[in-house]
Amino acid sequence: MSDLDTIIKNTIRHDGPMDLARYMDLCLTHPQYGYYVTRDPFGGAGDFVTAPEISQMFGEMVGMWLALLWQNMGQPARLNLIECGPGRGTLMADLLRATRHVNGLHQALSITFIEKSPTLAQKQAAAIDAVGFDGTRRWASHLNEIAADSDYDGAPAVVIGNEFIDALPIHHCVLTDKGWMERVIGLSDDDKLQYGLIPARTELTDIIAERKTPPEQNEIIEVSPERDAYIRDICAFIKTRSGAALFIDYGHDVVDAVGDTFQAMRDHAYTDPLKKPGSADLTSHVDFFRVKQVATDAGCTPQGTMTQGDFLHHLGIGQRAQALVQNAAADKAEDIYNAYQRLTAKDQMGELFRVVAFSHGVNGVPIL
Ligand SMILES: C[S@@+](CC[C@H](N)C(=O)[O-])C[C@H]1O[C@@H](n2cnc3c(N)ncnc32)[C@H](O)[C@@H]1O
Repeated sequence: MSDLDTIIKNTIRHDGPMDLARYMDLCLTHPQYGYYVTRDPFGGAGDFVTAPEISQMFGEMVGMWLALLWQNMGQPARLNLIECGPGRGTLMADLLRATRHVNGLHQALSITFIEKSPTLAQKQAAAIDAVGFDGTRRWASHLNEIAADSDYDGAPAVVIGNEFIDALPIHHCVLTDKGWMERVIGLSDDDKLQYGLIPARTELTDIIAERKTPPEQNEIIEVSPERDAYIRDICAFIKTRSGAALFIDYGHDVVDAVGDTFQAMRDHAYTDPLKKPGSADLTSHVDFFRVKQVATDAGCTPQGTMTQGDFLHHLGIGQRAQALVQNAAADKAEDIYNAYQRLTAKDQMGELFRVVAFSHGVNGVPIL
């Protein structure tokens, strides 16, 4: 039994059944035993591979997006670039390398990484050192920690994140004969973690009440006041200073989505989320429709969603892949083509992954 398993079981014995959101939060970011705190999970030898780790082209295209946005904003002399959940720092490093010749952009940039894992924060520092970025860089574990910091005043903010929102905690609700119930985690007679149901709190049922179509009995409905709050915090940050946000993730953009998308990934395979807590990545598919709704209600203007394939193609990934292939040794050319396919093809990441943007105070500037 792991230390985190013991902590979770003791918490359940003491406080009663635990909701999925608390379980996800403990498993992913417990300060001592959280999944991201105890390891670097990326790559072939890890548990999963993200877009920036597949190819430099991904971060380069986000760099193009940033450079275009900055130019369309009138090239402000200072720009706060904030990345949520930066992993190894690969996206940021590729973005910086791709934009180093954009006159004045790097001089304008102050970078902040929002990261809860000290292990990964060290990697992020090394990644941007390696590309020679010598501007301001800071770390915070939540956007709220920097919201009142006057260092960020007087300059627009651009907030980005790849596969970050999917890690924010969710709740499962289900309509039963007894009314709305929340799926929680308790202990079985033989002391194993197991699912159960308790009456759903109004904080959750209030979100469900906003849906246009009433859910059917026994359908799982995913809601996340925590994710909503994060989007509101980002919007508040942008509204105070003007700017934009760009998030890329797997998920759906449909009205009133239903179904269980909670998943655990270990060693490049799906696994039981309740087995060996803290040793697998726990995520859910992002409800982009809800993200846009929350951003709108918070006073920002959303754009998208767009598929990852379309987003990368509009920014020129096709031409970039061609240039890399032409300059590559024969044995590397196929890898580059395969990475391009993996990022953009409809049956790979090109369609499941979507891009949403929202902005405030950058009127008339195309964000997506
Ligand atoms: C799936 S990884 C994505 C990493 C990177 N963006 C990439 O695409 O390779 C999720 C990242 O979010 C961070 N993270 C997860 N939950 C977080 C939270 N609640 N607050 C801040 N960072 C978090 C993790 O430590 C990790 O850096």
